[in-house]
Amino acid sequence: MDRIRIRGGAPLNGLIPISGAKNAALPLMIASLLTDEALELGNVPRLADISSLLRIMSNFGVDHSIAGRRPGQTSETGQTIRLTARSVIDTCAPYELVSTMRASFWVIAPLVARFGEARVSMPGGCAIGTRPVDLLLMALTKLGATIEIDGGYVVAKAPKGLIGAEIEFPKVTVGGTHVALMAATLARGTTVIRNAAREPEVIDLADCLIKMGAKIEGAGTSEIVVEGVARLGGASHEVLPDRIETGTYAMAVAMTGGDVTLEHTRPELLQFALDVLGQTGAEVSTTPGGIRVKRNGNGLTSVDVTTDPFPGFPTDLQAQFMALMTRANGVSRIRETIFENRFMHVQELARLGAKIRLDGDSAYVEGVPALKGAPVMATDLRASVSLVIAGLVAEGETTINRVYHLDRGFEALETKLARCGAEIERLRG
Ligand code: UD1
Repeated sequence: MDRIRIRGGAPLNGLIPISGAKNAALPLMIASLLTDEALELGNVPRLADISSLLRIMSNFGVDHSIAGRRPGQTSETGQTIRLTARSVIDTCAPYELVSTMRASFWVIAPLVARFGEARVSMPGGCAIGTRPVDLLLMALTKLGATIEIDGGYVVAKAPKGLIGAEIEFPKVTVGGTHVALMAATLARGTTVIRNAAREPEVIDLADCLIKMGAKIEGAGTSEIVVEGVARLGGASHEVLPDRIETGTYAMAVAMTGGDVTLEHTRPELLQFALDVLGQTGAEVSTTPGGIRVKRNGNGLTSVDVTTDPFPGFPTDLQAQFMALMTRANGVSRIRETIFENRFMHVQELARLGAKIRLDGDSAYVEGVPALKGAPVMATDLRASVSLVIAGLVAEGETTINRVYHLDRGFEALETKLARCGAEIERLRG
């Protein structure tokens, strides 16, 4: 298994190109199941989760092709993937495939909407607390699907098609909103989705569905209205920039000091997190086509944060921010309100010398003058990158094991950081 070795202490300086958002690319790929025409997606990141979903889609009989690199494109330019779900031969997603990535469960929505039936394995256990699918199934039931659980599989049926309805989510769910949105596009009549997630990835999915012929209003607000259509067609769409990757590198620069421009991204995708970063003492400014993050010499100030649905502080940046706060002056309270048990990185950060006390949904991080390198273990996607951020300033050598978690969500991480001066390398095997 690959490992990542970091020698801490080097500041980051230069340019980091930001990839397309994994969390937008996945639902967009799944949306290709809604039509028999080709959906062409540009700026798709090269990640293990994307390859896993392609395998699942191939299993259904979806054809895909990946365009070759064109002149001027580098390995960081996202790939263009063309998906055609013309002859879907199977509407069953088996456990072996769904268990590798939770988001693949969302295929249930387009499959039942277009084919009247889907059989999808319940997603496997997940390292970040219980992540149920009850609200996703509630949305499909409201739209007229019958749901049965059979041998670990969810069987959704709507032989006469789905029917528009009012869906009110009792809590904000990104996956639930994606599922309701995709299913409603092909339902007869009007669907109103209340307390919808407002995440930029929901807007990106809606934009693409509109290009495919869907009638959607209000994406990006908490009420989305969908007027069902009889069929959707092909389209071409560019995946939006990855706000979590953007925030991660911004925090890395705040941690190490230096001056880095994050290219191909937009501040409004993570304004809340950037404002928090400003309060810690980093200088954040907007450039044409990107964001510049600087910190020179001055120490970090501790800041309290609470994770919230968009536009609040993203749970997917909580671990990275905690890493940053391990070196701040004073104590920072970090409250996690989205997922229970999303604190696995605490133990590993402690191995590097961090002082963190857990109390219910909160972590109290007391800044220390120095972290010390050590072998640590990646436990999930965002937790593992928090260890990279800590390793970048830890004295001596930090080795991160189980980096396959990182490969699920961060494209060319060590290349991007090394080019800005970090001493970081991948050890194969
Ligand atoms: C998505 C993101 C993930 C991010 C999360 C929250 C993708 C691929 N993943 O995950 O990176 O951390 O949003 O921003 O886009 N819930 C229920 N019942 C359900 C569904 C969810 O109770 O049926 C709860 C969850 O346990 C959690 C909360 O709702 O407490 C939010 O989860 P949700 O927004 O659905 O997360 P995902 O869509 O799985």
